[in-house]
Amino acid sequence: MDSQRRVVSGMRPNGRLHLGHYYGVLKNWVRLQHEYQCFFCIVDWHALTTDAAAGGDISRNAYDMAVDWLAAGVSPSSATLFVQSQVPEHAELHLLLSMICPQSWLERVPSYKDQQLDAQHREHATYGFLGYPLLQAADILAYRAGLVPVGADQLPHIEFARDVARRFNHLYGGEEDFQAKAEAAVRKLGKKSSKLYASLRKSYQEQGDLEALETARALLKDQQTITIGDRERLFGYLEGEGKVLLPEPQALLGDTPKLSGLDGGKMSKSSCNSIFLRDTPDEIEEKIKRMPTDPARVHRHDPGEPSRCPVWQMHLVHSSEDVRQWAEQGCRSAGIGCLECKAPLIEAIRLELAPLQERAQDYEQSPDLVRSILAEGAEQARDEARETLLVVRQAMGLNYR
Ligand code: TYM
Repeated sequence: MDSQRRVVSGMRPNGRLHLGHYYGVLKNWVRLQHEYQCFFCIVDWHALTTDAAAGGDISRNAYDMAVDWLAAGVSPSSATLFVQSQVPEHAELHLLLSMICPQSWLERVPSYKDQQLDAQHREHATYGFLGYPLLQAADILAYRAGLVPVGADQLPHIEFARDVARRFNHLYGGEEDFQAKAEAAVRKLGKKSSKLYASLRKSYQEQGDLEALETARALLKDQQTITIGDRERLFGYLEGEGKVLLPEPQALLGDTPKLSGLDGGKMSKSSCNSIFLRDTPDEIEEKIKRMPTDPARVHRHDPGEPSRCPVWQMHLVHSSEDVRQWAEQGCRSAGIGCLECKAPLIEAIRLELAPLQERAQDYEQSPDLVRSILAEGAEQARDEARETLLVVRQAMGLNYR
């Protein structure tokens, strides 16, 4: 298993998907699925960490989410799509990791700190919400994935997962005579490769040369002759003093890591500033027509400044270079009015979403197909997660075989 070729990501099914999900991550997933082994997870337990008391039909949302993913081009023949609660290994890993995760780490995570600042929310704070980032770490580490394509708001959570993996490896990756065993494994690489490995390791450890680290990892991946244990040792020896049992994941940002919404702030369902993937052409038109523009453009003949206008932020993502130039010049010279400026944007978003909505309709008409894709995905995901759990249980002394 090569963690650098493995991708994991997820979304909470607590509402309809919007353009932020689409431009922020879904488009990236569709690209990555052809190059990497991808696991995409509908994280229904995560939805419960904030919405449990409110009730609601999470499974309905999860199903709709699967339809939207498929309609956006995520393909079950290239990627594994599944629902978190159908793979109970995530919960077991979450529990086991909770034994080594200092409580203070969780209390320092920005989303938890924000909640604590808000008196009303503080009162409803749950154990589940505090553990949210650790459950997310379990989602990722269960597959020993190296890459996690997400939006910018998720960066602290991925950093958190890295910290947890590092701590796990530090606690359980060590073994007696690690250095001697690692040196023996280096010799098994053969004369040329062992020399190269040693010099790359030195460059990384002494000068922090990340390129050397990557090259050394690639060198190890190509080795056919060494055992899995020696490979884990050599990966660990590159960076520290023990085996890498759970590789540290890295976030992968797409072209639009933070898509703005109708009010210019980050598009999110809770801010009521979203265009949803299933919005009708009329709804799209209505929402954009109502968007605020540069506040300095009170009258049609007042010149505007695009950088102050949320509509311009949208042009940057949805419009062609020609349209952007036209809008920018027209705004600054007061050559066009705000409604005129919005017209090509409305058209561009409608055009982008029309084929997606058509495909969504097709999937809606085949509910058994969608369910079987998720059931098969859960089986595949479980097979992989079970392997990780064997390693984790054994490392933690829970070995009853
Ligand atoms: P969630 O469900 O809030 O969002 C899903 C993904 O969509 C991205 N996103 C955006 N990207 C750009 N611009 C926006 N306006 C925008 N709005 C949302 C988010 O950054 C995210 O990548 N904790 C995660 C779910 C999760 C997960 C995981 C992710 C659980 N386990 C394991 C990756 C790996 C969340 O709440 O995302």
